[in-house]
Amino acid sequence: MAKNPPHVRKAVLPVAGMGTRFLPATKAVPKEMLPVVDKPVVQYAVEEAREAGIEQFIFVTGRGKGIIEDHFDHAYELEMLLSAREKTAELDSLLEGLPITGAVSFTRQQKPLGLGHAVWSARHLVGDEPFAVLLPDDLMVGQPGGLAQMMEVYNAVGGGVIVAAEEKPLEETKRYGVIAPGQIKGNAIEVKGLVEKPKPSKAPSRLCIIGRYILAPEIFAELDRQETGAGGEIQLTDSMARLIGRMPFHAVKTTCARYDCGDKVGFLLANIAVGLTRPDIAPALKAMLRGVGP
Ligand code: G1P
Repeated sequence: MAKNPPHVRKAVLPVAGMGTRFLPATKAVPKEMLPVVDKPVVQYAVEEAREAGIEQFIFVTGRGKGIIEDHFDHAYELEMLLSAREKTAELDSLLEGLPITGAVSFTRQQKPLGLGHAVWSARHLVGDEPFAVLLPDDLMVGQPGGLAQMMEVYNAVGGGVIVAAEEKPLEETKRYGVIAPGQIKGNAIEVKGLVEKPKPSKAPSRLCIIGRYILAPEIFAELDRQETGAGGEIQLTDSMARLIGRMPFHAVKTTCARYDCGDKVGFLLANIAVGLTRPDIAPALKAMLRGVGP
């Protein structure tokens, strides 16, 4: 097994989804721009990636997602105004979130053909090197961040493919990629098989993939086939499954809490969970939460 696998420099963030579950909020605003406390959902994924050593952020977007580009650019008028009014904290909050010039690129998925197709759309920007995929809907709260924990395992097992995983109730397997687990080695669980969105009766376990991946560039040759799977979509899980046995392939149960911001209740919970980690609002939030409910 290779020691010191190649450094993972690039991350792909698929943000082309329509967000129909959040209408009417997402009629004119991309779902990735909905705020969790005071930052858009997508910014948490960028910060998590940056903490894990990612240097290049590749967004796979679609129509109507232009303000995501604006969000990761300077807003000169605003910055000048805040600076003139000596609103340093607000100004810092804008600048902290900003990747350096040239570190962000955007490509379009053009057709909503599934997650595998979204990742494949970034193939020319990724090139022939390992890369991470972060699905911004899955918000990870914890330290170290979700992707940083996966990088540790990536380095320990000598590279290959790493997915983040969580045990889910059996009735929920139909919403996830599900893992057939092999040996457990420390934090890593060997992946022996993968099935996308199986019925509970067909699920190989309750260990489900959550939206963080470290992938080898060999995935693109598999995605090139453009084969459809569950739900008639081109599934990333199916292409990953074809890499099993060809390289190290592990799942990591992170110690982070994961909130599904693609779901109304998950999104509300994420707001509360992140709010409770924020010293500026946690005391007031805690006090108010005690009074919530019947
Ligand atoms: C996607 C993947 C699935 C994974 C899930 C994690 O599904 O296809 O394997 O378990 O993300 O959030 P989606 O949520 O896009 O239906």
